[in-house]
Amino acid sequence: MADIEQLKRAAGEAALAFVEDGMLLGIGTGTTAEAFVRALAPKVRAGMKVTGVPTSERTLRLCQELAIPTATLETMPKLDLSIDGADEIDPQLRLIKGGGGALLREKIVAAAAKRMIVIADETKLVDTLGAFPLPIEINGFGMIATYLAIQEKAKGLGLTCDLTLRRSGEEPFITDSGHLILDASFGRIPDPEALSRALHDVPGVVEHGLFLGLSKDALVATANGVRHLKA
Ligand code: A5P
Repeated sequence: MADIEQLKRAAGEAALAFVEDGMLLGIGTGTTAEAFVRALAPKVRAGMKVTGVPTSERTLRLCQELAIPTATLETMPKLDLSIDGADEIDPQLRLIKGGGGALLREKIVAAAAKRMIVIADETKLVDTLGAFPLPIEINGFGMIATYLAIQEKAKGLGLTCDLTLRRSGEEPFITDSGHLILDASFGRIPDPEALSRALHDVPGVVEHGLFLGLSKDALVATANGVRHLKA
């Protein structure tokens, strides 16, 4: 298999073919999205006019370093295209996202875009979602009650899950929006839509990392080139 970093770069570069002059672009978070930003920068230097709406403070800083113009979703609430990575991609292009902790902003940005294109290396392709722990962003208030309610909901769907509070060193990881993340290991998620609805029913859940029906295109870099998958 080709080097993963090369594959990420190939996926990021392939996304450039979909970027047109004048576009308002949602820009994802993570190492693959970063490869896209690094590929975009020379185009911008050469005169391409795009404005990026970053999905995290980390991506904002990178855009600023590379002189890519940015705006917020408050000033640009409708986007032409969102380009982002994923932790898992199933054959229907349903995704698990949030390994980098930016799932809430990523989902809001993806939903605000006319089109979302996922970029990834081939290791992200799975038959069934769930081997990667599902990030669930929760409010800090009542977190134990929320934790227990998530387990109850999972049980109601015949699923068991181990929930782990994400940490950054010794401290709880805090998202850009000031929330906590529980990483939920299900092993397999046979019905992502049912789990999504169940999680949204839990009051302390702010958002979860199942991205369902948001992306119709994925650019997946393999040792034999970039495949364009469509849902
Ligand atoms: C960030 O919160 C995530 O959703 C990332 O898009 C996802 O974790 C993929 O990251 P990598 O491209 O670093 O694998």
